[in-house]
Amino acid sequence: MTDIPVISVDGPGGAGKGTLCVALARHLGWHLLDSGALYRLVALAAEERGVPFDDRDALAEVARHLDVSFELRSDADLTEVFLDGRRVDEALRSDAAGQGASQVAAIPEVRAALVERQRAFRRAPGLVADGRDMGTVIFPDAALKVFLTASTEERARRRYKQLKDKGLDASLRDLLTSMASRDERDAKRAVAPLRPADDAIVIDSTEVDAEGVLARVLSEARARGLV
Ligand code: DC
Repeated sequence: MTDIPVISVDGPGGAGKGTLCVALARHLGWHLLDSGALYRLVALAAEERGVPFDDRDALAEVARHLDVSFELRSDADLTEVFLDGRRVDEALRSDAAGQGASQVAAIPEVRAALVERQRAFRRAPGLVADGRDMGTVIFPDAALKVFLTASTEERARRRYKQLKDKGLDASLRDLLTSMASRDERDAKRAVAPLRPADDAIVIDSTEVDAEGVLARVLSEARARGLV
């Protein structure tokens, strides 16, 4: 156990967790853990090495030995991600990487292999942790737990805009289908399913913009003496 405070932000894809977490980490001067990127990296590395997605032990081995680094760029809302020394952020953000991540994330051996790696991100003065099981499994003692959600349509629309803004190809209808299937797999898996921690505050961002969500979370952080 440690005194270093954690704010956990869990919820389905496209709810605005990434935007919120980057803004929070910036505002507080805290570290940031993008745990989804770790699952995406396992999927990407497995694909590159020809490891089939049904070989649980080999996937766990990939997860244990991932050579990754994250660099938060101070001049942009952007984290550069390196796998084996190569920059992979673009490949990581593709919908295919998200689907692959959701598949490998359902494997208990893969999740177990990533637990300590995630906890090691907890460094002074504090950590903002973005994911699905941050408040329930990885940091059950988080000082503030947020569960951020939004309607499936709104989340698909946001993902679509994100991909388009990056010049990537996207279809709104395909995203909606893919998002619904990913949500279902994430919520129904036996290990660390997506659900709010009992002591989480639930925020629905369907009709609240990013500034509104940030303001709400900062006021909750203030109420807990974190700011
Ligand atoms: O947040 P994201 O879209 O980058 O996450 C990709 C997938 O990884 C998502 O479908 C579920 C999985 N994931 C998980 O199971 N646990 C986490 N803490 C983060 C992500």
